[in-house]
Amino acid sequence: MKSAPKTFHVKSFGCQMNVYDGERMAELMAANGLTHTDDASAADLVVLNTCHIRERATEKVYSDIGRIRKEARRDHGNDPMIAIAGCVAQAEGAEIVARAKIDIVVGPQAYHNLPALVGQAARGEAALDTDMPVLSKFGQLPARRKVGPSAFLTVQEGCDKFCTYCVVPYTRGAEVSRPFAGIVDEARALVDAGAREITLLGQNVNAWDDGGRGLHDLIADLDRIPGLARIRYTTSHPNDMRDGLIRAHAEVEALMPFLHLPVQSGSSRILKAMNRSHTRDSYLRLLDRVRAARPDIALSGDFIVGFPGETEQDFEDTLSLVAEVGYAQAYSFKYSPRPGTPAADMPDQIAPEIMDERLQRLQAALNRDQQAFNAHTVGRTCDVLIERRGKLPGQMLGKSPWLQSVHLLTDAAIGDIVTVDLTRADPNSMAGVERVAVAA
Ligand code: 5AD
Ligand code: SF4
Repeated sequence: MKSAPKTFHVKSFGCQMNVYDGERMAELMAANGLTHTDDASAADLVVLNTCHIRERATEKVYSDIGRIRKEARRDHGNDPMIAIAGCVAQAEGAEIVARAKIDIVVGPQAYHNLPALVGQAARGEAALDTDMPVLSKFGQLPARRKVGPSAFLTVQEGCDKFCTYCVVPYTRGAEVSRPFAGIVDEARALVDAGAREITLLGQNVNAWDDGGRGLHDLIADLDRIPGLARIRYTTSHPNDMRDGLIRAHAEVEALMPFLHLPVQSGSSRILKAMNRSHTRDSYLRLLDRVRAARPDIALSGDFIVGFPGETEQDFEDTLSLVAEVGYAQAYSFKYSPRPGTPAADMPDQIAPEIMDERLQRLQAALNRDQQAFNAHTVGRTCDVLIERRGKLPGQMLGKSPWLQSVHLLTDAAIGDIVTVDLTRADPNSMAGVERVAVAA
């Protein structure tokens, strides 16, 4: 049995929603009197907020548990309480307890119960909660008090799409939208706590709905919050991209010109096997409409190579789609069979060497397009939201409207928005020069 922890450390893996959940768990533990420490090996309680979407993530959790225990013992003579949170906890809770003898398992819809679970574990009781109560967690989390200039806000969780490769519908549950009022209150609290930009999060964020009001209505209301300069949202599904949201990209100045719209494959045959419910053509036509509304929009996507049955021709269709779209940035992954998903049992699983080779070709194409996008923005003048200090004296780092990292020399402080001429495209960022207002 372990005594009640006084200090804690939260480590999040995977998507931005996990980063958000990790921040909220930290706020919750702090509100319950625990002190945060940056050093995982010194903490009495370590929360590993896990991701289950691809295979290596799970293995990494086990090696992390081992490493944290070893370092805690070696450096502090400690045997910390370990809590596994997130999607691995939801999917494999009992198995992790058996395999790694951890103290607490808490699923992504149950982490508001973390303080109670810590109490149970301290009393030597089993502490496992993977219930999926609809939305009760948000009402039970403390108000947000201190955040950086760019903050996340979860508005929607879960997914009903059941893409045949994906575990999310099983680990995060069905699509649920948070009610409007709670979101606006949290957004106000974030702005009061220092946020100038809010990114609305959801597994299918553009499916957000409250009594017939869609994401664009929510964006319009958030746009009225004084002090909130920028609004973003991620991740969207092509089938939920409604006219109102596309129009918002033309009409709402605070809505940044960036859209993350995963396509996964450029082959309609593979998209069908993935149960994506859009085709190559319907996706491309959708992007035409988005670009008509906001011509400078930066597009981002997700890709999977080596889905079962993917032929060389299917893969070349993905490359040609990439060439046609010209993504500003994108994420690409090798297909990884997830136990319990339909694709894991499909015939024609692709050999690892073929996946490696296709991933390399795809990433070369995506890198080429990212460089081209960045080069194309050289010479533009834009607002940059300053987010942190750079490495050089006087240098600050911020984000352009198109989500590029921009470094510049400026006296501006973190949280300021400055007007910048983009002067150079470096491999992973842009260089800029601040426009200094000339007094009349
Ligand atoms: N294998 C590989 N990539 C996957 N993704 C989801 N499930 C899998 C899987 N089983 C990718 C998709 C999704 C992103 C978040 O992760 O591209 O959009
Ligand atoms: Fe997974 Fe598909 Fe839902 Fe995205 S839309 S979370 S890939 S099932």
